[in-house]
Amino acid sequence: MIKFHVVNGEILPAEQASLNITDLGLLRGYGIFDYFQMKNGKPFFMDDHLRRFYRSAEKMQLDVGYDFEALKEQIYRLIEANGTDTCGIRLVLTGGYAIDGFTPVSSNLVILQHPFKVWDEKIFTEGINLITHEYVRSMPEVKTTNYYTVILLIPEMKAADALDVLYYNSDGWISETSRSNFFIIDEEGKLITAVDKILHGITRGHTLAVAKDILPIEERNIHLSELKTASEAFVTSTTKGIVPVVKVGSDIIGNGKPGPLTQKLMEALRLRRE
Ligand SMILES: Cc1ncc(COP(=O)(O)O)c(C=O)c1O
Repeated sequence: MIKFHVVNGEILPAEQASLNITDLGLLRGYGIFDYFQMKNGKPFFMDDHLRRFYRSAEKMQLDVGYDFEALKEQIYRLIEANGTDTCGIRLVLTGGYAIDGFTPVSSNLVILQHPFKVWDEKIFTEGINLITHEYVRSMPEVKTTNYYTVILLIPEMKAADALDVLYYNSDGWISETSRSNFFIIDEEGKLITAVDKILHGITRGHTLAVAKDILPIEERNIHLSELKTASEAFVTSTTKGIVPVVKVGSDIIGNGKPGPLTQKLMEALRLRRE
């Protein structure tokens, strides 16, 4: 049971942990976040996530207000207060309170602790469907709090029994899904994933690191037309690790089942994470 969160350095009971309604995150959508998981006290790639949080903050001209070690200390104090070290940790940084509703003054930093998210095993054993949508995220390399495009697509995803939406640009080049990075394995057994105009996922980086010993890799943009001949596909993200993709729009990937190379990568990543 999560009883506490942190607001601007102060541990507060969950029901009192709040920001004022003049916050620029609310009024102007001006904010960033990051999220990582911890199991039995072992954080999964926490330093990578914190480093990305600082990079996102810098690109958005936001000041975290604490150095790396002080931030970590707040996270550990929160975990101790809640008395549970199997969890998700979400750091949110906003433009802060704006007297005129527009001009940033001093940022607000919130650290939320969440229960550890457990996904239905079926997504790993049977794979998932994706729908497609033409959309290019602005500042794609920054983990902003703006996810309204995918939220608007929830009814469409439900209708297609899809777990996420694959974004592509007006020329049909795929970037990533709304909350994960996207990979295909081509007919020759080569792993391909986009490198431009994406959020550089922490799981993407670790997947590429383990993949080096398993199959050849090419980091380049993938065109929608390549889905027709891809033998396997998968997505990567912090909460799910690697998840096989068996259908994108109307295209069935490979034989419509999670592929053997994807399964090998899933196991290699699991060992690296835990
Ligand atoms: C747009 C986008 N791409 C990729 C990812 C995957 O990143 P990570 O592996 O760090 O979770 C996310 C995660 O939230 C995301 O929002």
